[in-house]
Amino acid sequence: MRRTILIILAFAWSLAHSQNTITLNADGGKDKISKHIYGHFSEHLGKCIYEGFYVGDNNTAIPNVKGVRTDVVEALKKLKIPNLRWPGGCFADTYHWKDGIGPKDKRPTIVNTWWGGVTEDNSFGTHDFLDMCELLGTEPYLSGNVGSGTVQELTDWVQYTTFAGKSPMSKLRAENGREKPWNVKYWGIGNEAWGCGGNMKAEYYASIYKQYSTFLTGWSNDNKIFRIASGANSSDYNWTEVLMRDIPHNMLEGVALHHYSVIDWNKKGSATAFTEEQYFTILKKALLMEELVSRHSTIMDRYDKQKRVALVVDEWGGWYDVEPGSNPGFLFQQNTIRDAVLAGATLNIFNNHADRVRMANLAQTVNVLQAVVLTDKEKMLLTPTYHVMEMYTVHHEATMIPMELKSGDYVFGTDKLQAISASASRDAQGLVHISLVNIDASKVQEVTIDVRGAKFSSVTGRVLTSDKIQDYNTFDQPSKIKPVTFKDASISGNTLKVKLPPHSVVVLEAK
Ligand code: AHR
Repeated sequence: MRRTILIILAFAWSLAHSQNTITLNADGGKDKISKHIYGHFSEHLGKCIYEGFYVGDNNTAIPNVKGVRTDVVEALKKLKIPNLRWPGGCFADTYHWKDGIGPKDKRPTIVNTWWGGVTEDNSFGTHDFLDMCELLGTEPYLSGNVGSGTVQELTDWVQYTTFAGKSPMSKLRAENGREKPWNVKYWGIGNEAWGCGGNMKAEYYASIYKQYSTFLTGWSNDNKIFRIASGANSSDYNWTEVLMRDIPHNMLEGVALHHYSVIDWNKKGSATAFTEEQYFTILKKALLMEELVSRHSTIMDRYDKQKRVALVVDEWGGWYDVEPGSNPGFLFQQNTIRDAVLAGATLNIFNNHADRVRMANLAQTVNVLQAVVLTDKEKMLLTPTYHVMEMYTVHHEATMIPMELKSGDYVFGTDKLQAISASASRDAQGLVHISLVNIDASKVQEVTIDVRGAKFSSVTGRVLTSDKIQDYNTFDQPSKIKPVTFKDASISGNTLKVKLPPHSVVVLEAK
Protein backbone atom coordinates (compact mmCIF):
# COMPACT_ATOMS: atom_id res chain seq x y z
CA MET A 1 0.00 0.00 0.00
CA ARG A 2 2.77 2.40 1.06
CA ARG A 3 4.64 1.58 -2.15
CA THR A 4 1.57 2.32 -4.29
CA ILE A 5 1.08 5.68 -2.61
CA LEU A 6 4.75 6.53 -3.20
CA ILE A 7 4.46 5.59 -6.88
CA ILE A 8 1.32 7.74 -7.28
CA LEU A 9 3.05 10.64 -5.51
CA ALA A 10 6.15 10.30 -7.68
CA PHE A 11 4.00 10.21 -10.80
CA ALA A 12 2.04 13.28 -9.68
CA TRP A 13 5.32 15.07 -8.91
CA SER A 14 6.79 14.29 -12.30
CA LEU A 15 3.60 15.46 -14.02
CA ALA A 16 3.68 18.72 -12.09
CA HIS A 17 7.32 19.32 -12.81
CA SER A 18 7.85 18.22 -16.38
CA GLN A 19 5.05 19.94 -18.21
CA ASN A 20 7.42 22.42 -19.78
CA THR A 21 9.19 21.33 -22.92
CA ILE A 22 11.08 23.21 -25.57
CA THR A 23 12.15 21.87 -28.93
CA LEU A 24 15.00 23.97 -30.16
CA ASN A 25 16.11 23.90 -33.78
CA ALA A 26 19.57 25.17 -32.94
CA ASP A 27 20.82 25.36 -36.53
CA GLY A 28 17.61 27.00 -37.80
CA GLY A 29 16.45 30.59 -38.04
CA LYS A 30 17.06 33.38 -40.52
CA ASP A 31 15.94 36.56 -38.78
CA LYS A 32 18.36 38.80 -36.91
CA ILE A 33 17.21 40.09 -33.54
CA SER A 34 17.78 43.78 -34.05
CA LYS A 35 19.68 45.35 -31.17
CA HIS A 36 17.21 48.22 -31.53
CA ILE A 37 14.59 46.08 -29.77
CA TYR A 38 16.61 46.94 -26.66
CA GLY A 39 16.10 50.71 -26.99
CA HIS A 40 15.26 53.19 -24.23
CA PHE A 41 13.19 56.31 -23.79
CA SER A 42 13.96 59.58 -22.04
CA GLU A 43 11.29 62.24 -21.74
CA HIS A 44 11.27 65.66 -20.12
CA LEU A 45 9.18 64.14 -17.37
CA GLY A 46 9.77 64.23 -13.63
CA LYS A 47 13.37 63.38 -12.80
CA CYS A 48 14.28 61.56 -16.00
CA ILE A 49 16.23 64.32 -17.75
CA TYR A 50 16.74 66.84 -14.94
CA GLU A 51 18.42 65.12 -11.93
CA GLY A 52 18.38 61.77 -13.75
CA PHE A 53 20.58 62.23 -16.80
CA TYR A 54 21.45 65.88 -16.39
CA VAL A 55 22.52 67.65 -13.21
CA GLY A 56 23.61 70.99 -14.70
CA ASP A 57 26.83 72.12 -16.38
CA ASN A 58 28.17 73.72 -13.22
CA ASN A 59 27.46 70.86 -10.84
CA THR A 60 30.53 70.03 -8.75
CA ALA A 61 28.83 67.61 -6.32
CA ILE A 62 27.99 64.87 -8.81
CA PRO A 63 30.66 63.76 -11.32
CA ASN A 64 29.50 64.70 -14.82
CA VAL A 65 30.55 65.49 -18.37
CA LYS A 66 28.92 68.71 -19.57
CA GLY A 67 26.25 68.19 -16.91
CA VAL A 68 25.52 64.55 -17.79
CA ARG A 69 25.99 62.16 -14.87
CA THR A 70 29.02 59.92 -15.30
CA ASP A 71 27.56 57.10 -13.17
CA VAL A 72 24.41 56.92 -15.32
CA VAL A 73 26.45 56.97 -18.54
CA GLU A 74 28.71 54.17 -17.29
CA ALA A 75 25.73 52.06 -16.22
CA LEU A 76 23.94 52.51 -19.55
CA LYS A 77 27.08 51.76 -21.56
CA LYS A 78 27.08 48.29 -19.99
CA LEU A 79 23.59 47.79 -21.42
CA LYS A 80 24.95 48.70 -24.87
CA ILE A 81 21.83 50.77 -25.32
CA PRO A 82 21.28 50.91 -29.08
CA ASN A 83 19.00 53.94 -29.28
CA LEU A 84 17.47 56.56 -27.03
CA ARG A 85 14.16 58.26 -27.74
CA TRP A 86 13.77 61.96 -26.79
CA PRO A 87 12.23 64.45 -25.83
CA GLY A 88 8.88 62.60 -25.36
CA GLY A 89 6.22 61.19 -25.20
CA CYS A 90 3.47 63.70 -24.77
CA PHE A 91 6.08 66.37 -24.07
CA ALA A 92 7.39 66.06 -27.65
CA ASP A 93 4.21 67.54 -29.12
CA THR A 94 4.65 70.69 -27.04
CA TYR A 95 8.40 70.96 -27.55
CA HIS A 96 9.88 73.61 -29.80
CA TRP A 97 13.48 72.63 -30.36
CA LYS A 98 14.71 76.15 -31.13
CA ASP A 99 13.97 77.02 -27.46
CA GLY A 100 16.72 74.59 -26.48
CA ILE A 101 19.70 75.86 -28.49
CA GLY A 102 22.12 78.77 -28.03
CA PRO A 103 23.38 80.31 -24.77
CA LYS A 104 21.60 78.65 -21.86
CA ASP A 105 20.94 81.88 -19.98
CA LYS A 106 19.08 83.24 -23.00
CA ARG A 107 16.80 80.26 -23.55
CA PRO A 108 13.09 80.83 -22.96
CA THR A 109 11.27 78.92 -20.28
CA ILE A 110 8.07 77.00 -20.90
CA VAL A 111 5.62 75.19 -18.66
CA ASN A 112 5.59 71.42 -18.86
CA THR A 113 1.83 71.10 -18.94
CA TRP A 114 1.88 67.33 -19.29
CA TRP A 115 4.07 66.47 -16.37
CA GLY A 116 3.57 68.27 -13.08
CA GLY A 117 3.18 71.80 -14.51
CA VAL A 118 6.81 72.51 -13.72
CA THR A 119 8.83 75.22 -15.42
CA GLU A 120 11.13 73.85 -18.09
CA ASP A 121 14.17 76.10 -18.51
CA ASN A 122 15.32 74.37 -21.71
CA SER A 123 18.83 74.02 -20.32
CA PHE A 124 18.92 70.48 -21.72
CA GLY A 125 18.38 70.84 -25.46
CA THR A 126 19.37 69.40 -28.83
CA HIS A 127 23.17 69.77 -28.40
CA ASP A 128 23.02 68.38 -24.88
CA PHE A 129 21.01 65.35 -25.97
CA LEU A 130 22.94 64.53 -29.12
CA ASP A 131 26.31 64.99 -27.41
CA MET A 132 25.05 62.73 -24.63
CA CYS A 133 24.14 60.07 -27.21
CA GLU A 134 27.69 60.22 -28.52
CA LEU A 135 28.95 59.76 -24.96
CA LEU A 136 26.65 56.76 -24.53
CA GLY A 137 27.57 55.33 -27.93
CA THR A 138 23.88 55.17 -28.77
CA GLU A 139 21.75 56.27 -31.71
CA PRO A 140 19.37 59.16 -31.10
CA TYR A 141 15.69 58.78 -31.90
CA LEU A 142 14.13 62.23 -32.07
CA SER A 143 10.41 62.57 -31.62
CA GLY A 144 9.09 65.46 -33.73
CA ASN A 145 6.36 67.90 -32.74
CA VAL A 146 3.36 67.35 -34.97
CA GLY A 147 0.61 68.20 -32.48
CA SER A 148 1.56 71.86 -31.98
CA GLY A 149 4.46 72.34 -34.38
CA THR A 150 4.85 72.92 -38.09
CA VAL A 151 6.34 71.05 -41.03
CA GLN A 152 8.91 73.84 -41.35
CA GLU A 153 9.95 73.48 -37.71
CA LEU A 154 10.54 69.76 -38.03
CA THR A 155 12.30 70.07 -41.39
CA ASP A 156 14.57 72.69 -39.84
CA TRP A 157 15.39 70.29 -37.00
CA VAL A 158 16.41 67.59 -39.46
CA GLN A 159 18.50 70.09 -41.37
CA TYR A 160 20.03 71.54 -38.17
CA THR A 161 21.09 68.18 -36.81
CA THR A 162 22.09 66.25 -39.94
CA PHE A 163 23.01 68.49 -42.86
CA ALA A 164 26.72 68.65 -43.68
CA GLY A 165 26.51 71.24 -46.49
CA LYS A 166 25.93 74.97 -46.33
CA SER A 167 22.43 75.95 -45.23
CA PRO A 168 20.82 78.38 -42.82
CA MET A 169 20.37 75.62 -40.25
CA SER A 170 23.86 74.14 -40.53
CA LYS A 171 25.21 77.70 -40.17
CA LEU A 172 23.18 78.17 -36.99
CA ARG A 173 24.44 74.84 -35.66
CA ALA A 174 28.05 75.90 -36.26
CA GLU A 175 27.40 79.23 -34.54
CA ASN A 176 26.18 77.24 -31.56
CA GLY A 177 29.46 75.35 -31.41
CA ARG A 178 28.92 72.26 -33.54
CA GLU A 179 30.43 72.34 -37.01
CA LYS A 180 29.98 68.66 -37.87
CA PRO A 181 26.45 67.27 -38.11
CA TRP A 182 25.37 64.46 -35.81
CA ASN A 183 24.13 61.17 -37.10
CA VAL A 184 20.36 61.15 -36.53
CA LYS A 185 18.62 58.39 -38.39
CA TYR A 186 15.46 57.79 -36.36
CA TRP A 187 12.66 60.37 -36.48
CA GLY A 188 9.24 60.01 -34.93
CA ILE A 189 6.51 61.97 -36.69
CA GLY A 190 4.37 62.86 -33.71
CA ASN A 191 3.52 60.79 -30.65
CA GLU A 192 0.21 59.23 -29.67
CA ALA A 193 -1.57 61.26 -32.34
CA TRP A 194 -4.79 59.56 -31.19
CA GLY A 195 -4.36 61.15 -27.73
CA CYS A 196 -1.93 63.69 -26.27
CA GLY A 197 -0.46 64.27 -29.74
CA GLY A 198 -3.61 65.92 -31.08
CA ASN A 199 -6.61 63.61 -30.55
CA MET A 200 -6.71 62.83 -34.27
CA LYS A 201 -8.60 60.20 -36.21
CA ALA A 202 -6.40 57.64 -37.97
CA GLU A 203 -7.34 58.92 -41.46
CA TYR A 204 -6.59 62.52 -40.51
CA TYR A 205 -3.23 61.57 -38.99
CA ALA A 206 -2.32 59.52 -42.08
CA SER A 207 -2.78 62.66 -44.22
CA ILE A 208 -0.78 64.81 -41.82
CA TYR A 209 1.91 62.13 -41.73
CA LYS A 210 2.26 62.22 -45.52
CA GLN A 211 2.63 65.98 -45.46
CA TYR A 212 5.42 65.84 -42.84
CA SER A 213 7.09 62.84 -44.39
CA THR A 214 7.28 64.52 -47.80
CA PHE A 215 9.64 67.16 -46.44
CA LEU A 216 11.58 64.95 -44.05
CA THR A 217 14.01 63.75 -46.60
CA GLY A 218 17.18 64.82 -48.31
CA TRP A 219 18.90 66.51 -45.37
CA SER A 220 20.70 63.65 -43.73
CA ASN A 221 24.31 62.91 -44.82
CA ASP A 222 23.56 59.53 -46.28
CA ASN A 223 19.99 60.49 -47.02
CA LYS A 224 18.76 57.59 -44.93
CA ILE A 225 16.11 58.84 -42.61
CA PHE A 226 14.02 56.31 -40.77
CA ARG A 227 10.54 57.80 -40.33
CA ILE A 228 8.32 56.33 -37.66
CA ALA A 229 4.58 56.99 -37.71
CA SER A 230 2.80 57.50 -34.42
CA GLY A 231 1.20 54.13 -33.81
CA ALA A 232 -1.70 52.41 -32.18
CA ASN A 233 -2.72 52.39 -28.58
CA SER A 234 -2.51 48.69 -27.60
CA SER A 235 -5.30 46.85 -29.45
CA ASP A 236 -6.45 49.65 -31.74
CA TYR A 237 -5.95 47.50 -34.84
CA ASN A 238 -7.87 49.94 -37.02
CA TRP A 239 -5.10 52.50 -36.47
CA THR A 240 -2.44 50.22 -37.96
CA GLU A 241 -4.78 49.18 -40.77
CA VAL A 242 -5.40 52.80 -41.81
CA LEU A 243 -1.73 53.80 -41.67
CA MET A 244 -0.62 50.79 -43.70
CA ARG A 245 -3.42 51.35 -46.21
CA ASP A 246 -3.20 55.13 -46.64
CA ILE A 247 0.49 55.92 -46.40
CA PRO A 248 2.65 55.00 -49.42
CA HIS A 249 5.31 52.67 -48.09
CA ASN A 250 8.18 54.61 -49.62
CA MET A 251 7.29 57.36 -47.12
CA LEU A 252 7.31 55.07 -44.12
CA GLU A 253 10.01 53.02 -42.42
CA GLY A 254 8.32 52.20 -39.13
CA VAL A 255 4.90 52.14 -37.49
CA ALA A 256 4.81 52.52 -33.72
CA LEU A 257 2.78 50.73 -31.05
CA HIS A 258 2.37 51.65 -27.38
CA HIS A 259 1.37 49.18 -24.71
CA TYR A 260 1.67 49.63 -20.96
CA SER A 261 0.96 46.90 -18.42
CA VAL A 262 -1.43 48.54 -16.00
CA ILE A 263 -4.04 47.01 -13.71
CA ASP A 264 -6.59 49.82 -13.95
CA TRP A 265 -5.81 53.37 -15.08
CA ASN A 266 -7.82 54.73 -12.13
CA LYS A 267 -6.34 52.35 -9.57
CA LYS A 268 -2.95 51.19 -10.69
CA GLY A 269 -1.74 49.86 -7.36
CA SER A 270 1.59 50.17 -5.61
CA ALA A 271 4.83 49.31 -7.39
CA THR A 272 6.07 47.43 -4.31
CA ALA A 273 3.21 46.63 -1.89
CA PHE A 274 1.16 44.39 -4.16
CA THR A 275 -0.71 41.12 -3.77
CA GLU A 276 -0.18 37.99 -5.84
CA GLU A 277 -3.42 38.84 -7.62
CA GLN A 278 -1.92 42.16 -8.72
CA TYR A 279 1.30 40.39 -9.72
CA PHE A 280 -0.74 37.97 -11.82
CA THR A 281 -2.77 40.75 -13.45
CA ILE A 282 0.30 42.76 -14.42
CA LEU A 283 1.90 39.69 -15.99
CA LYS A 284 -1.33 38.94 -17.83
CA LYS A 285 -1.30 42.47 -19.26
CA ALA A 286 2.36 42.10 -20.20
CA LEU A 287 1.81 38.77 -21.95
CA LEU A 288 -0.92 40.41 -24.02
CA MET A 289 2.02 41.83 -25.98
CA GLU A 290 2.19 38.48 -27.82
CA GLU A 291 -1.32 38.94 -29.19
CA LEU A 292 -0.79 42.63 -29.92
CA VAL A 293 2.41 42.12 -31.84
CA SER A 294 0.98 39.13 -33.73
CA ARG A 295 -2.22 40.90 -34.74
CA HIS A 296 -0.60 44.22 -35.68
CA SER A 297 1.98 42.21 -37.68
CA THR A 298 -0.74 40.27 -39.47
CA ILE A 299 -2.31 43.55 -40.60
CA MET A 300 1.08 44.84 -41.72
CA ASP A 301 1.74 41.60 -43.60
CA ARG A 302 -1.37 42.14 -45.69
CA TYR A 303 0.00 45.45 -47.00
CA ASP A 304 3.70 44.73 -46.80
CA LYS A 305 4.55 41.10 -47.51
CA GLN A 306 8.26 41.89 -47.74
CA LYS A 307 8.18 43.19 -44.14
CA ARG A 308 9.90 46.38 -45.19
CA VAL A 309 8.09 48.52 -42.62
CA ALA A 310 9.13 47.81 -39.02
CA LEU A 311 6.79 47.54 -36.06
CA VAL A 312 8.33 49.86 -33.46
CA VAL A 313 7.05 49.30 -29.92
CA ASP A 314 8.42 52.63 -28.77
CA GLU A 315 6.70 52.68 -25.37
CA TRP A 316 6.24 49.62 -23.18
CA GLY A 317 6.55 48.66 -19.53
CA GLY A 318 4.73 48.45 -16.21
CA TRP A 319 2.87 51.48 -14.88
CA TYR A 320 1.92 51.77 -11.19
CA ASP A 321 0.94 54.46 -8.69
CA VAL A 322 3.77 56.88 -7.95
CA GLU A 323 5.84 56.33 -4.81
CA PRO A 324 4.08 57.83 -1.77
CA GLY A 325 5.12 61.45 -1.22
CA SER A 326 6.38 61.97 -4.77
CA ASN A 327 4.86 64.37 -7.29
CA PRO A 328 1.95 62.56 -9.03
CA GLY A 329 2.99 64.16 -12.32
CA PHE A 330 6.53 62.76 -12.09
CA LEU A 331 5.64 59.05 -12.49
CA PHE A 332 8.38 57.92 -10.13
CA GLN A 333 7.95 54.26 -9.18
CA GLN A 334 10.11 51.56 -7.64
CA ASN A 335 11.00 48.42 -9.56
CA THR A 336 10.67 44.88 -8.18
CA ILE A 337 11.37 41.37 -9.36
CA ARG A 338 7.84 41.53 -10.84
CA ASP A 339 9.22 44.10 -13.30
CA ALA A 340 12.17 41.86 -14.10
CA VAL A 341 9.77 39.04 -14.96
CA LEU A 342 7.67 41.46 -17.03
CA ALA A 343 10.76 42.69 -18.90
CA GLY A 344 12.14 39.19 -19.54
CA ALA A 345 8.82 37.90 -20.88
CA THR A 346 8.25 40.99 -23.07
CA LEU A 347 11.74 40.88 -24.55
CA ASN A 348 11.24 37.18 -25.34
CA ILE A 349 8.10 38.15 -27.28
CA PHE A 350 10.03 40.79 -29.22
CA ASN A 351 12.88 38.36 -29.94
CA ASN A 352 10.44 35.77 -31.23
CA HIS A 353 8.89 38.38 -33.57
CA ALA A 354 12.25 39.65 -34.81
CA ASP A 355 11.05 39.57 -38.41
CA ARG A 356 8.66 42.49 -37.82
CA VAL A 357 9.51 43.99 -34.43
CA ARG A 358 12.78 45.69 -35.19
CA MET A 359 12.77 48.46 -32.64
CA ALA A 360 11.32 49.03 -29.15
CA ASN A 361 11.78 51.45 -26.27
CA LEU A 362 11.26 50.66 -22.62
CA ALA A 363 9.54 53.52 -20.76
CA GLN A 364 11.58 55.13 -19.29
CA THR A 365 15.33 55.06 -18.63
CA VAL A 366 15.86 56.96 -15.38
CA ASN A 367 13.47 57.69 -12.48
CA VAL A 368 10.28 57.37 -14.54
CA LEU A 369 7.93 54.33 -14.85
CA GLN A 370 9.82 51.05 -15.41
CA ALA A 371 13.24 52.66 -15.09
CA VAL A 372 16.53 50.79 -15.35
CA VAL A 373 18.30 53.35 -13.18
CA LEU A 374 17.08 55.32 -10.15
CA THR A 375 18.93 58.30 -8.72
CA ASP A 376 18.73 60.22 -5.49
CA LYS A 377 21.08 63.21 -5.53
CA GLU A 378 24.57 61.67 -5.71
CA LYS A 379 23.30 58.10 -5.24
CA MET A 380 22.33 55.74 -8.05
CA LEU A 381 20.97 52.21 -8.16
CA LEU A 382 20.35 49.61 -10.84
CA THR A 383 16.87 48.11 -10.85
CA PRO A 384 16.00 44.44 -11.47
CA THR A 385 14.85 45.53 -14.96
CA TYR A 386 18.36 46.87 -15.61
CA HIS A 387 19.79 43.44 -14.89
CA VAL A 388 17.41 41.75 -17.33
CA MET A 389 18.41 44.21 -20.03
CA GLU A 390 22.07 43.48 -19.28
CA MET A 391 21.57 39.69 -19.29
CA TYR A 392 19.74 39.89 -22.63
CA THR A 393 22.53 41.85 -24.40
CA VAL A 394 23.65 38.45 -25.72
CA HIS A 395 20.66 38.50 -28.08
CA HIS A 396 21.65 41.81 -29.76
CA GLU A 397 22.12 41.19 -33.50
CA ALA A 398 22.10 37.41 -33.00
CA THR A 399 20.02 35.08 -35.19
CA MET A 400 16.69 34.20 -33.62
CA ILE A 401 16.36 30.45 -33.20
CA PRO A 402 12.82 29.20 -33.68
CA MET A 403 11.51 27.00 -30.91
CA GLU A 404 8.41 25.09 -30.00
CA LEU A 405 7.46 25.79 -26.39
CA LYS A 406 4.93 23.77 -24.48
CA SER A 407 4.37 25.47 -21.17
CA GLY A 408 2.50 24.33 -18.11
CA ASP A 409 0.16 26.75 -16.38
CA TYR A 410 0.60 29.27 -13.66
CA VAL A 411 -2.81 29.07 -12.03
CA PHE A 412 -4.23 31.85 -9.89
CA GLY A 413 -7.79 31.46 -8.67
CA THR A 414 -9.86 30.54 -11.69
CA ASP A 415 -7.46 32.10 -14.16
CA LYS A 416 -4.17 30.91 -15.61
CA LEU A 417 -1.15 32.06 -17.60
CA GLN A 418 1.61 30.16 -19.31
CA ALA A 419 4.23 29.57 -16.64
CA ILE A 420 7.22 29.76 -18.96
CA SER A 421 8.37 32.32 -21.48
CA ALA A 422 11.41 31.69 -23.65
CA SER A 423 13.46 32.81 -26.65
CA ALA A 424 16.79 31.76 -28.11
CA SER A 425 19.45 33.05 -30.46
CA ARG A 426 22.78 32.11 -32.04
CA ASP A 427 25.50 34.76 -32.08
CA ALA A 428 28.27 35.39 -34.60
CA GLN A 429 30.61 33.04 -32.69
CA GLY A 430 28.05 30.24 -32.83
CA LEU A 431 27.17 30.44 -29.13
CA VAL A 432 23.53 29.69 -28.37
CA HIS A 433 21.71 31.72 -25.72
CA ILE A 434 18.38 30.72 -24.27
CA SER A 435 16.46 33.16 -22.08
CA LEU A 436 13.84 31.60 -19.84
CA VAL A 437 11.37 33.26 -17.51
CA ASN A 438 9.45 31.47 -14.79
CA ILE A 439 6.38 33.62 -14.42
CA ASP A 440 4.90 31.48 -11.64
CA ALA A 441 5.03 33.43 -8.39
CA SER A 442 5.65 30.46 -6.12
CA LYS A 443 6.46 27.22 -7.97
CA VAL A 444 9.74 25.89 -9.29
CA GLN A 445 9.36 24.99 -12.96
CA GLU A 446 11.40 22.33 -14.65
CA VAL A 447 12.02 22.69 -18.36
CA THR A 448 13.25 19.97 -20.67
CA ILE A 449 14.90 21.29 -23.82
CA ASP A 450 15.27 18.92 -26.73
CA VAL A 451 18.08 20.25 -28.90
CA ARG A 452 18.04 19.52 -32.60
CA GLY A 453 20.66 20.50 -35.16
CA ALA A 454 23.57 20.98 -32.73
CA LYS A 455 25.59 19.08 -30.13
CA PHE A 456 26.31 20.97 -26.94
CA SER A 457 28.94 19.83 -24.51
CA SER A 458 28.52 22.54 -21.89
CA VAL A 459 25.88 24.86 -20.53
CA THR A 460 26.37 27.79 -18.17
CA GLY A 461 24.04 30.56 -17.10
CA ARG A 462 22.98 33.37 -14.83
CA VAL A 463 19.79 33.79 -12.84
CA LEU A 464 17.96 36.82 -11.47
CA THR A 465 15.47 36.21 -8.70
CA SER A 466 14.69 37.07 -5.10
CA ASP A 467 12.84 35.57 -2.13
CA LYS A 468 9.69 37.61 -2.59
CA ILE A 469 7.95 38.98 -5.66
CA GLN A 470 7.83 42.36 -3.93
CA ASP A 471 11.62 42.60 -3.43
CA TYR A 472 13.51 45.56 -4.87
CA ASN A 473 16.83 47.38 -4.64
CA THR A 474 17.09 50.43 -2.41
CA PHE A 475 19.72 53.15 -2.12
CA ASP A 476 20.77 51.50 1.17
CA GLN A 477 20.77 48.01 -0.31
CA PRO A 478 21.42 48.61 -4.02
CA SER A 479 22.62 45.06 -4.77
CA LYS A 480 19.94 43.02 -3.05
CA ILE A 481 18.79 41.80 -6.47
CA LYS A 482 21.48 41.07 -9.03
CA PRO A 483 22.28 38.20 -11.38
CA VAL A 484 24.23 35.28 -9.97
CA THR A 485 25.62 32.06 -11.42
CA PHE A 486 22.90 29.58 -12.30
CA LYS A 487 23.63 26.03 -11.21
CA ASP A 488 20.43 24.21 -12.09
CA ALA A 489 21.07 23.37 -15.73
CA SER A 490 22.45 20.04 -16.90
CA ILE A 491 23.12 18.48 -20.25
CA SER A 492 22.91 14.88 -21.32
CA GLY A 493 23.13 13.99 -24.98
CA ASN A 494 20.65 16.19 -26.82
CA THR A 495 18.67 17.10 -23.73
CA LEU A 496 19.07 20.12 -21.50
CA LYS A 497 17.32 20.03 -18.15
CA VAL A 498 16.70 23.26 -16.29
CA LYS A 499 15.10 23.95 -12.92
CA LEU A 500 13.83 27.53 -12.73
CA PRO A 501 13.16 29.12 -9.34
CA PRO A 502 9.80 30.89 -8.95
CA HIS A 503 9.61 34.42 -10.42
CA SER A 504 12.99 34.26 -12.07
CA VAL A 505 14.80 35.17 -15.27
CA VAL A 506 17.57 32.85 -16.48
CA VAL A 507 19.89 33.23 -19.46
CA LEU A 508 21.79 30.12 -20.54
CA GLU A 509 24.80 29.85 -22.80
CA ALA A 510 25.25 26.52 -24.57
CA LYS A 511 28.21 25.46 -26.70
O1 AHR B 1 5.69 57.46 -20.85
C1 AHR B 1 4.77 58.34 -20.31
C2 AHR B 1 3.73 58.78 -21.32
O2 AHR B 1 2.95 57.69 -21.70
C3 AHR B 1 4.25 59.32 -22.61
O3 AHR B 1 4.58 60.67 -22.53
C4 AHR B 1 3.10 59.13 -23.55
O4 AHR B 1 3.50 58.95 -24.88
C5 AHR B 1 2.40 57.91 -22.98
O5 AHR B 1 1.04 58.11 -22.87
